[in-house]
Amino acid sequence: MKLCILGGGGFRTPYVYQALLRDTGSPRVERVALYDVDEVRLHAMVAILTELAADFPDAPVLEPTTDLHRAVEGSDYVFAALRVGGLEGRRCDEHVALDLNVIGQETTGPGGLAYAIRTVPVMVEAAKVIKDLAPNAYVMNFTNPAGIITEAMQSVLGDRVLGICDTPSGLGRRVAGTLGLDHTRVQMDYVGLNHLGWMRRVMYDGRDVLPELMADDDRLGAMEEGHVFGLDWIRSLGSIPNEYLFYYYFNRDAVRSIIGSGKTRGDFLAESQSAFYDRASAAGDGVAELWRETVERRSASYMAEAKGGTQDEPLDPKERETDPSHQGYAGVALGVMAAISRNERQTMILNVRNNGTIAGLPRDAVVEVPTMVDANGVHPMTTDQPDLHQIGLMSQVKAVERHTIAAALTGSKDEAVKAFALHPLVDSVSVARDLVRGYVDRIPEVAAVLTK
Ligand code: G6P
Ligand code: MN
Repeated sequence: MKLCILGGGGFRTPYVYQALLRDTGSPRVERVALYDVDEVRLHAMVAILTELAADFPDAPVLEPTTDLHRAVEGSDYVFAALRVGGLEGRRCDEHVALDLNVIGQETTGPGGLAYAIRTVPVMVEAAKVIKDLAPNAYVMNFTNPAGIITEAMQSVLGDRVLGICDTPSGLGRRVAGTLGLDHTRVQMDYVGLNHLGWMRRVMYDGRDVLPELMADDDRLGAMEEGHVFGLDWIRSLGSIPNEYLFYYYFNRDAVRSIIGSGKTRGDFLAESQSAFYDRASAAGDGVAELWRETVERRSASYMAEAKGGTQDEPLDPKERETDPSHQGYAGVALGVMAAISRNERQTMILNVRNNGTIAGLPRDAVVEVPTMVDANGVHPMTTDQPDLHQIGLMSQVKAVERHTIAAALTGSKDEAVKAFALHPLVDSVSVARDLVRGYVDRIPEVAAVLTK
């Protein structure tokens, strides 16, 4: 099979490739097209992947290219993980909002909308190319904001595109780990939109183990969620919120601590990335090791400021991306491929078309829910309805997402202002206007889209 990675020069590509190297099932991926607009990154990535493949005689063949059509043509699967505007764009997503005392974050709040506005047109165009040149391909979209981008791409590709996020399964795995249970045997009841969801039950051997965790100060307190949300608030909710809900439930605290830490996540990553490329060109053989060091340092710092630290002084190292047994994204994506190509039926939490699963949301809205995947495609599972506060937040944010897609596709600044103004984390229409002005001024790729 041929797999195409859009944004193949990105930092997470080695995780995907390592998972492919270890995969011994049949059919398996034999060719990997790496598409990127940046030749320098592609070159460095090929060097890393080649080193990783050294001990694998049947390693998938690499086909790096800056030609989208060549990359896509004849693919069985497409992974999409690209960042329009690069890390400089991400820094602006964060800083324009923080300068207005509003949450400045890659996917949550106004930063995510600015990111979506410049990304939707690119990904809708990519979807059209895929429809033409790889009409049977399934697309696994990691491109953030994943919910919005997946919904926009569905207008071209329907259910052949699904959105992937590692946070729900990561949460389930950590719940299992904290309780000393085998994470491969848990079934999770999770509901939400991407980066806006709640773990309501974790079933193990026919019983829900979440109440036990909720009652245990030490275990709940040791979890990242216990740390950032506090035990009382998690107990009040009666479910474990996705870590990104920190920016909603503790909005003022989050704004204050990010500003106070003096450095955003984007600032930190931009530095570490450029240091990586400087050293990589001189590293010769050790480039895979250099990559490993860089990502380990990155994952140790994730959400550091939310936990009261700073990006430079992480409080606790995270197993998030560095543990080869799961590897977040790559694990979920490979699971989907195996389920579809080998009919290895699996239930995973994915971003898929609602289709009536959540009664209060439109049928064609993309939601993040447990989904059964097999050779017949993706089937979101029937689930308990969210409570009133959850459905309220989801509806509001979904409306915002749709205005954002409309702004991106029409180029209308008024539509963009409407999207920003209706966002629950933007507290005034005047702030929304300032945000749109700021993003247009600071990010050329946003200015190029919002021309009307
Ligand atoms: C998690 C989220 C991703 C997000 C990433 C940010 O994995 O699920 O959607 O992009 O964190 O990580 P970064 O290292 O780029 O801050
Ligand atoms: Mn995610």
